[in-house]
Amino acid sequence: MCGIVGYTGPQSAITPLIEGLRRLEYRGYDSAGIALGTSGALFIEKRAGKLTNLEGSLPANMPVVHSGIGHTRWATHGGPTDRNAHPHTDNEGKLAVIHNGIIENYSELKAELQSRGHEFSSDTDTESVAHLLSELRKSHGGDLTAAMLDAVKRLRGSFTLVAVHADAPEVIVGVRRNSPLVVGLGDGENFMASDVAAFIDYTKRAVELGQDEIITMTPAGISIIGLDGKAVVPKEYAITWDSASAQKGGYSHFMLKEIFEQPKAVADTLIGRLTDNGKIELDELHMSEAEIKALKKIVVIACGTAYHAGMIAKYVIEKWAKISVEVEIASEYRYRDPIIDSNTLVIAISQSGETMDTLMAIRHAKAAGARVLAICNTNSSTIPRESDAVLYTHAGPEIAVASTKALLTQIVAVDLIGLHLAQVRGELTDAQVRDLYNEMLELPGKIEQILETVEPLRALTRTFAKSETVLFIGRNIGYPVVLEGALKLKELAYIHAEGFAGGELKHGSIALIDAEKGTPVIAILPSGSDHSLDEKMLSNIQEVKARGARVIVIAHEGAEVVGAEHIIRIPACSPLFQPILATVPLQVFAYEMAIARGNDVDQPRNLAKSVTVE
Ligand code: AGP
Repeated sequence: MCGIVGYTGPQSAITPLIEGLRRLEYRGYDSAGIALGTSGALFIEKRAGKLTNLEGSLPANMPVVHSGIGHTRWATHGGPTDRNAHPHTDNEGKLAVIHNGIIENYSELKAELQSRGHEFSSDTDTESVAHLLSELRKSHGGDLTAAMLDAVKRLRGSFTLVAVHADAPEVIVGVRRNSPLVVGLGDGENFMASDVAAFIDYTKRAVELGQDEIITMTPAGISIIGLDGKAVVPKEYAITWDSASAQKGGYSHFMLKEIFEQPKAVADTLIGRLTDNGKIELDELHMSEAEIKALKKIVVIACGTAYHAGMIAKYVIEKWAKISVEVEIASEYRYRDPIIDSNTLVIAISQSGETMDTLMAIRHAKAAGARVLAICNTNSSTIPRESDAVLYTHAGPEIAVASTKALLTQIVAVDLIGLHLAQVRGELTDAQVRDLYNEMLELPGKIEQILETVEPLRALTRTFAKSETVLFIGRNIGYPVVLEGALKLKELAYIHAEGFAGGELKHGSIALIDAEKGTPVIAILPSGSDHSLDEKMLSNIQEVKARGARVIVIAHEGAEVVGAEHIIRIPACSPLFQPILATVPLQVFAYEMAIARGNDVDQPRNLAKSVTVE
């Protein structure tokens, strides 16, 4: 996720651009840049690091110009460096483009453009668009809009693109596909941005762009065309948010916004991972087929929510790739004497990439000779830098301390790794891999379905607001899910919450059920065809109900459930994919409990987003 701003009008453009980027820093903050349209040339400044780095690098005597574009980055392709920061330009330095999203086919475009003499200076996917637009603009006699229309037809992936050319600096052209772009209509001035937070202080009149619509913006007004080149009538609406809620996309908290961003986060993490010839594409692993076939053991190291993603990795990798997987709490692992050899792969999972416990654990593993693969959401953070390879998730910045969308993308990442290892080792056929991957592509829509039906769950949760203990039970791959549900509740509601393997209830934890208080128990009914698991979980439900528990059951559509006070239905899916769906109601439950108890949802007491001390 990145922040994009464009301005054209009577103001000195630097002000609305910088202020707009400041309002969008929550969308990405590892580098920032601007391009100002001075006549005949562009003024470009871009810096790694936070927006203040860019501001500090601007000359005192800035040219007063009246149009430009700005970008604050959340790196996906290419680390957060000055040269990878946006805007990116053509070789003449007269066309600048900024981008949010992923250009799936940038490599082939880059090769084609290089063969025609274009010289590249960054590692990004975006730069390919700058050179392509420059070429197409020339072929259209300097018409940037026509160039953008042709360029979009060549691009695959999800993107918002905004471009400006020095020959007509007051004209700013944008387009969007599966990535946001909104227009702010002013009086003799106009704005473009990733969301209204960027220009809400200047205007409350907005226009939302539709899929593949190309907008041309000047101080006098805007025009929009579709892929067919035909005019589109702008649909204006009034913005009702204040600037604070605008940064949360209108949600009351970043956590709720990030829960609702999960369908896109999962979809973005899956983009382009199955090649045309049916292979799972994970070049980032930097492992040869021989090395993958020689693997004897995988050790997953992580903390907190990331550790729960690691537990899920054990189920999927052992099931699909038939490789033994150990899952280790980082802070414990680093004091153990790890049994590691050249056929061991250590996978470190971390949203922030800065968790000191995990960092110290991978240093410990590397000292013992292990190869380390990081799964991380923060480009070029410390853990990926100290690992041998990194698979980045595409959840975008996760602002709330309680991790939600990062977890789902971590699960997607370990699923992709499991499929890739299984395919290379011949444990799964190409057809089986394709079917499983295609089922994963349906998960964003299934998450959407769950999110569309959360209101009854939110209302139900408020009836448990005074509970001081909540228990969670799950079996098989549902066990890590209930541990995650308990962690979320602890983090957010500050109450005693524990997750148990259903089979463990009778070995002690069932004593926690207090009939007088009606202890709430949330049970996850395993999905899929292994009915022995369903039947055992249904027995667990009867056991806890008989002792006075109030039972909420999360079950897939069509599953027979008895003994539940409430049933939360989720879409059916293959058993190993259920965590991606079953986790969502537990996130919502914890969120609503925090609200009901008047807690600070985005910054819970005693917690930090990244634990950078041991
Ligand atoms: C999750 O909600 C918590 N904030 C915490 O457990 C977190 O998952 C843990 O600290 C690991 O963080 P990381 O993924 O950034 O390494």
